[in-house]
Amino acid sequence: MPRPSLLITRRLPASVLERLRATYEVTVNPDDRSLGREGLLAALRAYDALSPTITDKLDAEVLQSPGLKTRILANFGVGIEHIDLDAAKRANIVVTNTPDALTDATAELTILLILMVSRRAGEAERAVRAGKWKGWGPTQLLGNDVKGKTLGLVGFGRIAKEAARRARAALGMRIAYYSRNRANAEEELALGAEYHSSLDSLLAHSDVVSLHCPGGAATYHLLNAQAIARMKPTAILINTARGSVVDEEALGTALAQRQIAAAGLDVYEHEPTVPTSLVELENVVLLPHLGSATLETRTAMGMQMADNLDSFFSGKAPPNRVA
Ligand code: DGY
Repeated sequence: MPRPSLLITRRLPASVLERLRATYEVTVNPDDRSLGREGLLAALRAYDALSPTITDKLDAEVLQSPGLKTRILANFGVGIEHIDLDAAKRANIVVTNTPDALTDATAELTILLILMVSRRAGEAERAVRAGKWKGWGPTQLLGNDVKGKTLGLVGFGRIAKEAARRARAALGMRIAYYSRNRANAEEELALGAEYHSSLDSLLAHSDVVSLHCPGGAATYHLLNAQAIARMKPTAILINTARGSVVDEEALGTALAQRQIAAAGLDVYEHEPTVPTSLVELENVVLLPHLGSATLETRTAMGMQMADNLDSFFSGKAPPNRVA
């Protein structure tokens, strides 16, 4: 029986490719950048399986095109808002993702941003590099303690809970959350998490607001000017979820006018574009979508993706099927 053909749209860790090559006829996009609409369409017409990432937009127009050969989109990553799931279903294409592998790394990056922003680490590092540091001083670059402060989580999925666990245990923070689905009592107790039934209430009571909801239409610009205005003037905003959740223009204005104290962002609405209004500010830490960027995690994501492919091609239900 011929081996299934698989196109990997972006370069993956060597051990993942080695595993996949043992089972599939693997082609890796040599350019390591988005294939674009035409490239994706050609791939969907030529390969049995595709492994896309967040940088590949698989919309209804592409997925409803005639003559598609692909039977599974084994996404490398947990977020799948770049794939139109309804269109995939209509085209009889199975979609899977990698939900568990990146939880720890992304929670860890949330903690990194909380600390960087609270201790003004980005601003301080830039000052050292620019030769602006004049030596130690009692009031130089004063940040804020995080111990005893309230971390307000918007969304309470795997990554949010893991960030809560770390923030509570390692930083001594209090935990609050807002989510459409309330967690069960044991879980709330274990994390000392206080539930808020509205976003406004969470925003008004939090010292650090951290976003952990999925991207897509339902959360588009959830943090707009009105929502940001609910935050404390001393509060900071952290986003390791999706850029589309924040109205970046409104955030830039709020930071410039000190309506809120600071922000730490890992994701942007139109990556890799970062609005100049944010780049020019000192009170924002800007990272280039590093949430899951460790060798261990990207390898684990690849292995989870390979598990999904293996199940699918051996006629079993893929463990992480989303459509
Ligand atoms: C994810 O898995 O969603 C990460 O943001 C990388 O795509």
